[in-house]
Amino acid sequence: MKAISDTYTLANGIAIPCVGFGTWQVPDGDAVVSAVSSALELGYTHIDTAAAYGNEAGVGKAVRRSPGGRESVFVTSKLWNDVRGYRETLEAFDKTMERLGFDTLDLFLIHWPAPYRFRDNYRELNRETWRAFEELYRAGRVRAIGVSNFLRHHLEELMETAEIPPMVDQLEFHPGWMQQDTVSFCQQNGILVEAWSPLGSGKLLQDPQLCEIAAKYGKSTAQLCLRWALQKGILPLPKSVTPERIRQNTQLFDFVISAEDEQAIDRLSCVGRTGSDPDNAKF
Ligand code: A2P
Repeated sequence: MKAISDTYTLANGIAIPCVGFGTWQVPDGDAVVSAVSSALELGYTHIDTAAAYGNEAGVGKAVRRSPGGRESVFVTSKLWNDVRGYRETLEAFDKTMERLGFDTLDLFLIHWPAPYRFRDNYRELNRETWRAFEELYRAGRVRAIGVSNFLRHHLEELMETAEIPPMVDQLEFHPGWMQQDTVSFCQQNGILVEAWSPLGSGKLLQDPQLCEIAAKYGKSTAQLCLRWALQKGILPLPKSVTPERIRQNTQLFDFVISAEDEQAIDRLSCVGRTGSDPDNAKF
């Protein structure tokens, strides 16, 4: 990757910009409109939201009024845990599209594999849900479909009956939490891995070893973590509401982490998981 405008190619041939702007915990209304507008001005062309973030309306507004318009931005949203099943998923998708104010979506993901309220029969329900995703894809309402927080065993279960395999798995991924088993499975099966909390929810930024390596390259620790993900063929989704940081997180293409340093980062234990365990989350 040489520039923020460069793309990965999904299994169905769709191009996806190599860094996405995350919007989790950015409140709807002016806050998200302003953060997404800053990101679009600074060169991002990929915005990640979700029904559960409660900010689809603001994301849609910022994208629609951006200089390049709707067509110039790749937008992802996600189906929340309160919805499973074929008909229910189609209805929830319609609501997401109403909030965004779009005719088509670029990428739609199942947000978590085994919601608390559906845990007893999540496998069957995911299959029905996925049937709706396939229907939306075939109807051209969404350009790509995938999952989020699916570990290897969740992917294997889904792929037993899927007619169209997921094209993306969005996982917690950062130094100290590499989820190697799931990431290898994805990469062997043509599933692009996206990294949420690529900065360990900000907790990695004070890590002394990461700071030391970053200083060698004259880069911030955040830039080091994002570049490290890119060098592994992973698509990072940094989030920030601070314009200077939003800008900094696009400047990842004027340095290369050496193989030796990349391996040193791989070996760090840092903070470990900062989010929930997909099999045991209480939501
Ligand atoms: P803020 O939004 O106040 O700018 P992650 O993407 O791993 O979840 O991390 C997000 C956190 O990291 C947010 O608290 C964000 O703060 C902070 N952050 C994002 N980019 C940078 C950066 N370049 N330098 C320092 N902190 C950053």
